[in-house]
Amino acid sequence: MKKAKRLAALLLAAGMMVSMAACTSVSDSSSSNNSSSSDSSASGESSTGESSIDKIKAAGKIVMATNAQFEPFEYIDGTDFKGIDIEISQKIADELGVELEIHDVKFESVIAEITTGKANFAAAGMSITEERLKNVDFSNEYFSATQSIVVMKEGSSVAKPEDLKDKVVGVQTGTTADTYVTDEKGENNVGVKEVKRYNSFVDAANDLMTGRLDAVVMDDFPATKLVEKNADKIMKLDDELTGEKYAIAVPKGDKEMQDLVNKVLADMEESGEMDELLTKYIGEE
Ligand code: ARG
Repeated sequence: MKKAKRLAALLLAAGMMVSMAACTSVSDSSSSNNSSSSDSSASGESSTGESSIDKIKAAGKIVMATNAQFEPFEYIDGTDFKGIDIEISQKIADELGVELEIHDVKFESVIAEITTGKANFAAAGMSITEERLKNVDFSNEYFSATQSIVVMKEGSSVAKPEDLKDKVVGVQTGTTADTYVTDEKGENNVGVKEVKRYNSFVDAANDLMTGRLDAVVMDDFPATKLVEKNADKIMKLDDELTGEKYAIAVPKGDKEMQDLVNKVLADMEESGEMDELLTKYIGEE
């Protein structure tokens, strides 16, 4: 199951590369350091000819943006950042021989970290979407996910996706779960009564358990982790609401950074490290 999921992701990745190559690069404001002209530094080559990778090496650190309340992909354990994305990001830093700096921000600000040059890439269990592709490029996919529904074990009025209609549903702001229930274009037509938005899915789940929500919509693996921790109270429905692919976001047009991330992902696949990581954090399915 797990393997099949990721194999499909790899095959799709080839297609993605083609479609990404078709996007022209729009350069954003600027990156964090010294270039005096601000027009092109978010893309790979600055006007001085110095690439983003050169700048990272010179700085001795690479900055990753994330939102670390998304176990098993990123979370805080005591004083440490842990999770699949954290370990992949460490590999990216190791590949360049620099330190990894983690910017833990609200999920809705993760993309802006890149477009304003505060971070070099973002790893946040982030699904590839058309909307996000307007502002950033993505690496190859490394994980397949779906949105799922979390409800109270006892007495829930939501037992299937259609039951979300007229209910109060919690999501994390700016996520694909948010888009799924909100859907201004009417495509999903969920028809919920009210969407409550939270800074994290953990906060949403807490409100579910205190009776302020009828359901939470969120990514399947983080949902499984949350349910494991509160197994006496909440459960996850089996329905898969969407098909999504996680990838690492890089500055728009920064081919060098994209290639670097893709190389690290491919190396990890090949060496079996990616499988080990998934088993470590998710276990056998
Ligand atoms: N996969 C979903 C999305 O892309 C949720 C990601 C939330 N990630 C996080 N680190 N909180 O919108």
